[in-house]
Amino acid sequence: MALPHAVRLIEVGPRDGLQNEARPIDVAAKVQLVDELTACGFSYIEAGSFVSPKWVPQMAGSGEVFARITRRAGVTYGALTPNLQGFEAALAAGVSEVAVFAAASEAFSRRNINCSISDSLARFAPVMGAAQAAGIPVRGYVSCVLGCPYEGAIAPAQVAAVAGELHAMGCREVSLGDTIGTGTPGATRTLFDTVAAVVPRAQLAGHFHDTYGQALANVYAALLEGISVFDSSVAGLGGCPYAKGASGNVATEDVLYLLHGMGIHTGIDLDAVIAVGQRISQQLGRANGSRVARARGCGDSVLPQG
Ligand code: HMG
Ligand code: MG
Repeated sequence: MALPHAVRLIEVGPRDGLQNEARPIDVAAKVQLVDELTACGFSYIEAGSFVSPKWVPQMAGSGEVFARITRRAGVTYGALTPNLQGFEAALAAGVSEVAVFAAASEAFSRRNINCSISDSLARFAPVMGAAQAAGIPVRGYVSCVLGCPYEGAIAPAQVAAVAGELHAMGCREVSLGDTIGTGTPGATRTLFDTVAAVVPRAQLAGHFHDTYGQALANVYAALLEGISVFDSSVAGLGGCPYAKGASGNVATEDVLYLLHGMGIHTGIDLDAVIAVGQRISQQLGRANGSRVARARGCGDSVLPQG
């Protein structure tokens, strides 16, 4: 399959990146990050999550984040909503798009959102209805598509079944999440090929965590499968609180370097993202997770914790 001429990157750092940080991050810092990312040229930024603050305290205050960011016309500011309660809060906060999130593994579904896969899909139905009535598009996630921290291997057919349900209930795009980063390029190709039988490739996205160092290779494998939307996180921030040991998403900077190197257009300014990634890494007191940023001299100036 021919490589795409352009790729759309979904910057998930403010959500997937910050949800797993050990130290609390105040609203002002989140707003600053989103605003800096807006200036880099992203067309989609996942800026928060309307989940239970008891489950994910780091995402508390997402409503305030949405109230205070400076929006640029044409940029989608999205958020996770696990149920109608979350959707109503997201709508009140003025989100441009929401995302419901299911899993391909029963055990992970219960750990992450406290219900079975089929119950989660039933909870999403009223979200889809309310979103349609409000004119808000809905994205769908499937987690654990290439392995589960509790169940191990996951069959591609199981991923296809869940992705197909999300597509059928009206999700405009379904992002396949390698939550624990165990996938390898061959498995990634098989996965997308299998899921493409039920969800058109143009409506699929790749979401790769880099725990095993395979994420960039998996992005390339997905490109070869005709996928042209990827989720990534500035400075490789991220992880899932309910997938122990899961490290950050593939670093946005590294994906940009790969894509631009192959002549694939993104509309995003790599140098600007490197600067943002270095600044947020220093603020969080963590090493910069982007190889490209480190090659450009970032990452050796992490401020002390505290
Ligand atoms: P539950 O405890 O079963 O919910 O949690 P419940 O309906 O029984 O309600 C219990 C309490 O939660 C009530 O409050 C509700 O009001 C409150 P109380 O009466 O006890 O004071 N509540 C809420 N509060 C705020 N916002 C809401 C909400 N819903 C209920 N939306 C629930 C179920 C889904 C809420 C919970 O399990 C939850 O919030 N889970 C979120 C987990 C999460 O955010 N995980 C990380 C994101 S997923 C991810 O990272 C993977 C991804 O990146 C892709 C990949 O990498 O694979 C997307
Ligand atoms: Mg994730």
